[in-house]
Amino acid sequence: MLKRLKYYFWRCMPTSRILNLKPGVQISTKARLLGWPIIENRNGGSIHVGENVTLNSRKWGNALGVLSPVIIRTLSSAAKVEIGNNSGLSGTRIASAQQIKIGERVLIGADTVIVDNNFHPINPVNRYRQPRPASKTGDAVIIEDDVFIGTGCIILKGVTIGRGSVIGAHSVVSKSIPEMVIASGNPAVVLQNIQVEQEKTQ
Ligand SMILES: CC(C)(COP(=O)(O)OP(=O)(O)OC[C@H]1O[C@@H](n2cnc3c(N)ncnc32)[C@H](O)[C@@H]1OP(=O)(O)O)[C@@H](O)C(=O)NCCC(=O)NCCS
Repeated sequence: MLKRLKYYFWRCMPTSRILNLKPGVQISTKARLLGWPIIENRNGGSIHVGENVTLNSRKWGNALGVLSPVIIRTLSSAAKVEIGNNSGLSGTRIASAQQIKIGERVLIGADTVIVDNNFHPINPVNRYRQPRPASKTGDAVIIEDDVFIGTGCIILKGVTIGRGSVIGAHSVVSKSIPEMVIASGNPAVVLQNIQVEQEKTQ
């Protein structure tokens, strides 16, 4: 009986409220959580999810489905993940040792990975027993407002994607991309500028 009551209590509790119980995790009550994201925060790290953000972890929550739930992890006590208002993420996996900042109205296609560190040292002598290299200030990833990232991209450390830019599907972004361009490929390069037609006013 107690087991059943407990089960119904957790089922009825909004997901965001449960996740907000974790120290350092702040999820707007206006965020839309489809399915259960995996949100893990190291002591001292912080994760902030803004208003009207959609975190889609369900296969039927996106036209392409998702291969995994949304995963947001801080890997060090200094790490900071911020997701701005009105952004939408589907099956996105984020692991931060430093800072990953996603602006407002950013759309991230299914199954993109965003990391601000290499996870393992380049030097093989240091790799064994040293699971993670120290992250540097310049390793932060900044995705500015109104960016659209296609499905299955990988955004690597130290990258800034400028306001309004579009990243083609399955791109590997290893260098910063300016604002208002289309960039694609491995490594992603700028293909063209985006022209915004002014709305006619009468
Ligand atoms: C390949 C990698 C280790 C290189 O890291 P690094 O030695 O610090 O090198 P840099 O980031 O300075 O990049 C060096 C050059 O390679 C390019 N580059 C880096 N990673 C790249 C990638 N994955 N694909 C294509 N080009 C890449 C950079 O643009 C840069 O080009 P340049 O020489 O023209 O300037 C890193 O970028 C990477 O892919 N890390 C993998 C992270 C990961 O998946 N970890 C495991 C998680 S479980």
